[in-house]
Amino acid sequence: MQRKHFRMLLLIVAFAMMAAMVVGCAAATAPAAEAPAEEAAAEAPAEEAAAEGAGLVGIVLPTRDEPRWLQDQARFEELLGSAGVPVQILFSQGDSAVERSNVDSLLTQGANVIILTPHDGAAAAAAAEAARAGGAKVISYDRLILGTEAVDFYVTFDSVAVGEAQGQFLVDNAEGTGNPLFLYAGAATDNNAFLFFEGAWNVLQPKIADGTFRIVNSSEAVALQDKAELTRDEMAAIIGQVTTNWDFNTAKSLAEANLTAAAAEDKGDVSILAPNDGTARAIADAFAADADVTSFKVTGQDAEIASVQYIIDGKQSMTVLKDTRTLAADAIAAATTFLAGGTPEQTTTYNNGAFDVPAKPSEVITVTRDNVQAAIIDSGYWPAEEFTGLE
Ligand code: BGC
Repeated sequence: MQRKHFRMLLLIVAFAMMAAMVVGCAAATAPAAEAPAEEAAAEAPAEEAAAEGAGLVGIVLPTRDEPRWLQDQARFEELLGSAGVPVQILFSQGDSAVERSNVDSLLTQGANVIILTPHDGAAAAAAAEAARAGGAKVISYDRLILGTEAVDFYVTFDSVAVGEAQGQFLVDNAEGTGNPLFLYAGAATDNNAFLFFEGAWNVLQPKIADGTFRIVNSSEAVALQDKAELTRDEMAAIIGQVTTNWDFNTAKSLAEANLTAAAAEDKGDVSILAPNDGTARAIADAFAADADVTSFKVTGQDAEIASVQYIIDGKQSMTVLKDTRTLAADAIAAATTFLAGGTPEQTTTYNNGAFDVPAKPSEVITVTRDNVQAAIIDSGYWPAEEFTGLE
């Protein structure tokens, strides 16, 4: 090759490399609006970190239609400044195909860590494997990715403790015997729905067996009411009858159908296991509208603003605070540890059907009207201005 041509070739190669770097950088920091096939995004400061090769952390959350996940988005955004790495957040809108394309898109942008809350734990295995194959570490966030070894770490809350807190609240507030109990659960595609139900059953079952409660709306649960420990299939049978699918409208119609089917003597003063805040408000509204319901106790979780207001107003009885500030911080800490070549510290493991996933669960707090000021306001979780009627 002639010298002149060789120099020209070198120049072209150098130019192509520079162009590739600029495009890579822009992709890592581009707002999602400019990136095709993506739902939404927070975006990504700390370009210096990217330039030093610190890598992109991609976060995929299940839906922006539930306040719970907007809480997590906001907490991640609060942390971005201090994280020292570019972070991009995408939403899957309750669709495993969108979730997969979000993961692919983040990988294309050079993500080295993917923090993923699966819409469907089993279906997400393929996305996790794609992430692993693309050279990224996979952190399962709040919900466990099932049936694959392509999960490097799991940050979560103690979900069995969430269910136990819900069950305990109903037990502590039940008087006498024969109290009508309505059971509701989350989506069967979400491993957490099983953990929440397991926790609640741990506490409620002995009190069903001793006659304190009487299950009204699940023949499967009635058939199993003498069993202290349920298998996953047994729980699935109950959940199949009482699932809200984590959907407010489904929760409301199911509660209405249950109330229509129930005799007047199965109403009166009732106890309701509702799996989370969104479904609790929908179920509470349905029970409040039934003339045969004299009073009801209803559980929840997530400390969503609307539910904290319901608690202050006496329309929802409790919620379980899962401090998303802690969870997001744990996830970012695990991600930056991975980026630095380390291994995040585990405190336990969760079996996902393929292996024991190293994990770090966080504690949860029961919130009622009695401690709402301390747990929610004084702790800085939500500002007092969000609410009316606080004492
Ligand atoms: C989360 C809950 C949430 C529910 C519905 C669960 O996996 O742990 O906090 O309310 O999903 O999105």
